[in-house]
Amino acid sequence: MKNLLAITDFSNKEIDELIHIAEDIEKNPAKYQEKAKHKKLATLFFEPSTRTRLSFESAMLSLGGSVLGFSDANSSSSSKGESLSDTIRVVSCYSDIIAMRHPKEGAPLVASNVASVPIINAGDGGHNHPTQTLTDLLTIKKEKGRLDNFTIGFCGDLKFGRTVHSLIQALARYKGIKLVLISPDELKLPDYVKKDVIEKSNMDYVETDSLEKAMPTLDVLYMTRVQQERFFNEDDYLRLRDSYILDMDKLSSAKKDLSILHPLPRVNEISIEVDSDERACYFKQVYNGRLIRMALILKLLNLI
Ligand code: NCD
Repeated sequence: MKNLLAITDFSNKEIDELIHIAEDIEKNPAKYQEKAKHKKLATLFFEPSTRTRLSFESAMLSLGGSVLGFSDANSSSSSKGESLSDTIRVVSCYSDIIAMRHPKEGAPLVASNVASVPIINAGDGGHNHPTQTLTDLLTIKKEKGRLDNFTIGFCGDLKFGRTVHSLIQALARYKGIKLVLISPDELKLPDYVKKDVIEKSNMDYVETDSLEKAMPTLDVLYMTRVQQERFFNEDDYLRLRDSYILDMDKLSSAKKDLSILHPLPRVNEISIEVDSDERACYFKQVYNGRLIRMALILKLLNLI
């Protein structure tokens, strides 16, 4: 039985296959509308979510399956003190596959040790978010026509931004990717990503605190929200939250074919004036998220 705990659980070949299925789903939705009939997806969200949970649910419904679960830990027995392992054992009896989000890093791994159905990590603390990465890869593939040989800037909260960690893990396995890591000193990428992923795979990277300087070199710009919920100190958050605000003025030096990504939700980091620029891809990411999650569910349930 296969899980998706980290993006490295899938080879590049398997990722290519998921992208291929997602593209086929987009072209021929009717072909897939009963593929997961009588199957049940449980969405267990111990942390807030809009896109990830609803796109999983919409994905399962689009495959003819059904969904159950909770979107607030306070409405589950974990508020009575039930352990995660017990919750997972129980939900394994009610569902065929589980997508879970949890504030603790490694919680999906713990879940996978006791689950009798596949576990999908829908975000664990400041660690990983592999299904957002699949969404990001599908978007880059559609926009650029390739997943290799481009320069990508990651801007904002690279310390706590789990979507950044997972996407870098994925990109480390493609050729010719250059990383520009744009953040204030306090929000730099953690060592376990820099040393164990970037340096081990000999990726080309630079670190800077200047979005302006980086801008003209970028093919893809991945903006992020400063992750308020991971800060220990409110004052630090308030000081850092508006470190980077992308507006049309900053985009004036950007390439004409830049692709601007953001996993959303956005707070202040992209001005709404950017939304109507054709380089803005963040709502396309939302659209792509449901397609790739449909492909993922089919694959993990061995329905394709
Ligand atoms: C991201 C997350 O939860 O890590 N959101 C998402 O799933 N699209 C990014 C964020 O919350 O900033």
